[in-house]
Amino acid sequence: MLTTSLTLPCGATLRNRLAKAALTERLSRADYLPNELHRRLYQSWAEQGPGLMLTGNIMVDKRYLESAGNVAVEDESALPALQQWTQAGKANGQHLWAQLSHPGRQCSILVTLRPLAPSAVKLKKLGLFAKPRAMTEAEIEEVIQRFVRTAGLCKEGGFTGIQIHAAHGYLLSQFLSPRTNRRTDAWGGALENRARLLMTILRETRQALGSDFPIGVKLNSADFQRGGFVEEDALQVVRWLTEAGVDLLEVSGGTYEHLAFLVMDETGVKESTRRREAYFLDFARKVRQVSDVPLMVTGGFRSRSFAEEALERGELDVIGMGRPFLTEPGQVGAFLRGELERFSNLKVRTGFKNLEDMAEGGFYARQLILLARGKALRLDMSPLAAALFVPLHEMRKALGKRF
Ligand SMILES: Cc1cc2nc3c(=O)[nH]c(=O)nc-3n(C[C@H](O)[C@H](O)[C@H](O)COP(=O)(O)O)c2cc1C
Repeated sequence: MLTTSLTLPCGATLRNRLAKAALTERLSRADYLPNELHRRLYQSWAEQGPGLMLTGNIMVDKRYLESAGNVAVEDESALPALQQWTQAGKANGQHLWAQLSHPGRQCSILVTLRPLAPSAVKLKKLGLFAKPRAMTEAEIEEVIQRFVRTAGLCKEGGFTGIQIHAAHGYLLSQFLSPRTNRRTDAWGGALENRARLLMTILRETRQALGSDFPIGVKLNSADFQRGGFVEEDALQVVRWLTEAGVDLLEVSGGTYEHLAFLVMDETGVKESTRRREAYFLDFARKVRQVSDVPLMVTGGFRSRSFAEEALERGELDVIGMGRPFLTEPGQVGAFLRGELERFSNLKVRTGFKNLEDMAEGGFYARQLILLARGKALRLDMSPLAAALFVPLHEMRKALGKRF
């Protein structure tokens, strides 16, 4: 099954069922554009043959980054660099989709002291994020237009599809969650209102890109937070997305307050679930009951037999994988060909609960940068150094921009 093709509702065909999930690159310089590092990285992944590659967060507004070093696409000046990048990323004839994103309140204090969010609810995480300001209606309208514009530019720049990032606690996910969306206007309150921003962006992007251009959405199964976005909400949003016409739905979960997609807290998780390596599959099964949208599940897949089994059982259509592309990048082809049964599952743990997600994220962020530079990986990196890696990288980038 892994090597069979999949035709999406828009008519595009993925040539196999393995997707490289979005991995934020943090490689751009002061111009926010993709460069030779992005090209080298994507060319090497493309050579391994996954049927679909999703870029890391591409920002629709360079004032608000998910991480320093993000690519941001606002106007035609980005096109030449985008074209070079997409050429490298499609080297093996696969699909290459741009993941479009706005961070909302999850925007480091080093990037902005005044992030935007649905409501002024601060993200409390080691003092790394400033208190956001609630967006005005005009700012919401502007964000919609930015998503549409960036999507159009990405199509022109050679991407073969886009994915709207509505997961992981970024802006669209903040609007969906009652924990971060306390608005009392048409954009808050009932789920229909909280989903309005995502649904409007989807509708308007579809209109701009046409019915034959792939549009995907990455959605949380839940925030895993008290008072947050829950599974029943997610299933209703899936129904609406299906009606509106999505080509590939990717399910994940968690926010910066609880990075479930990186570090799954297994306390209280059923033994039957724990034994299954892909932790959002239980939710995927519920999605299947309410929707026939092509489904990609990301998070935890490491063995070929398990991936095959999940595909055979029809639990999903596309296997998403992130971290194996960073620690065993040259083995993805072997995995696809059936010559490698299992990727190793490296876990980076400091022993301090508050630092575990930063250590896990930092470790992989560093491997990505080494790979892009053509250097040897540093799998022996200490967990504490890993925990500090992203804040220090952000600081270097921020200072580099200012001086
Ligand atoms: C270094 C790193 C960067 C990531 N960047 C993004 C991103 O830009 N957008 C996104 O949706 N998910 C991002 N993720 C999450 C992955 O797409 C994926 O959901 C997660 O790693 C779980 O899959 P895995 O167990 O196969 O790694 C990132 C993960 C890592 C480790």
